Amino acid sequence: MSSIATKNSSASSKQRALFAIADRVLPGSGLGSYSLADDIRLIYSHGKGSRMWDVDGNEYIDYVGGAGALILGHSHPAVVKASKAQLDRGAHMFGSLNDVAVMLAERLVDDIPCAEKIAYATTGSEATGYAMRLARAFTGRSKILKFEGAYHGNHDYAIVSTFPQQTGTYPQGVPDSCGQPDATVSTMLVCPYNDLDMLRRIVAEHHDDIAAIIAEPVQRIIPARPEFLHGVRALCDEYDMLFILDEVVTGFRLCYGGAQQWYDVRPDLSTHGKVVGGGGPLSCIAGRADVIGLSDPRLKGRQGYTYFNGTLHGNPVAAAATMAMLDELGKPGVYERMNGFADDLCRETQQILDRHGIPAIAEHTGSLWQILFMEKTPRNQGDVLASDQESMRRLDTLLMQQGQYVLPGVRRFVSTAHTAQDLEDTLRGLDSACREFSKT
Ligand SMILES: Cc1ncc(COP(=O)(O)O)c(C=O)c1O
Repeated sequence: MSSIATKNSSASSKQRALFAIADRVLPGSGLGSYSLADDIRLIYSHGKGSRMWDVDGNEYIDYVGGAGALILGHSHPAVVKASKAQLDRGAHMFGSLNDVAVMLAERLVDDIPCAEKIAYATTGSEATGYAMRLARAFTGRSKILKFEGAYHGNHDYAIVSTFPQQTGTYPQGVPDSCGQPDATVSTMLVCPYNDLDMLRRIVAEHHDDIAAIIAEPVQRIIPARPEFLHGVRALCDEYDMLFILDEVVTGFRLCYGGAQQWYDVRPDLSTHGKVVGGGGPLSCIAGRADVIGLSDPRLKGRQGYTYFNGTLHGNPVAAAATMAMLDELGKPGVYERMNGFADDLCRETQQILDRHGIPAIAEHTGSLWQILFMEKTPRNQGDVLASDQESMRRLDTLLMQQGQYVLPGVRRFVSTAHTAQDLEDTLRGLDSACREFSKT
């Protein structure tokens, strides 16, 4: 498609003026932890389906997908309609239930395999923070075991050994940010992903203190070995710890029943955001009624009561958007088509990489995919660190210059909105990027 942007060497005066403001008032002129080099940083104005446009009107194929929240692509008509209708009825009602939040809660309890109850929160980070707090309250133990390289959000308990530059201090975790209290970091234990032997050893020594094990079912782009998740479940049963499955990305994404259905595993709690939220401010914790029930406000002042609260909990606009999204996802063939697109994309990407002699693999689990400079599917963070990350970022940067919105070095998403035209354009852009890559 001719309108796909290539290179951003001549940003318009509009874009330059906006960056001048952003440089002045936003740290690093960015959002969160992403900072892009000058030749690929852009200011986007809008999106539709699988495409996004920058303020100069250049078009991009979007594989970031709102970090996975936009499983139907941008501005899906059903989601827009439901959100607008709810905005007309009222944007928020704090402190009391609203009808849409009740209806969505019933739907989530029906549709999330482990859910006997759900409790609302606003973001994925909040959901994992509450799940950890619930686990401590339920078990009376203080520590949480997580896996090296796993992302569970932005709070002080989550950012421990998430971005380690080297591996191997198990079970001690490494803080990822300045400003994290030692006391918080030391309540987290860390183990390599997919390593059941090491996990058994750590748990055997520390189980008296461990409230829960939290795991991503696909850790960034690393798929869990099925026996690993089942092994975590068995260990949690053996030592009365809770198993928290972080489905913020995988819930309603790998398939309708999320990773719990994909891997046929039942956690005690699962955390959900992104698709749950419909692109808006809503997330939830799902799972056992006896655990989630500890947040029942009627228990205030009693043993076990666990505090939950947030201005936007149960937000009806996000709840309406989520309901519309789930309706679409529930239609026959949706996951087959989306995951099939990722399959075609990765197979054909691999052929192009091979043709250019580029030593990389195109990996996907369901609709999560990435190009990795390694020989085979990674098992853990050690494999990721041992790979050629500089080349990975260089190729991704060239892809951005070919009009694909990917964040260099970051796992990416296919949505239901990606089309045969997107596949063709993506592969053509990849071919050009590989040619350029091979020259340098
Ligand atoms: C697995 C996982 N858990 C938790 C989070 C945190 O979600 P949020 O960014 O909505 O706080 C993310 C965000 O990407 C995630 O990927």
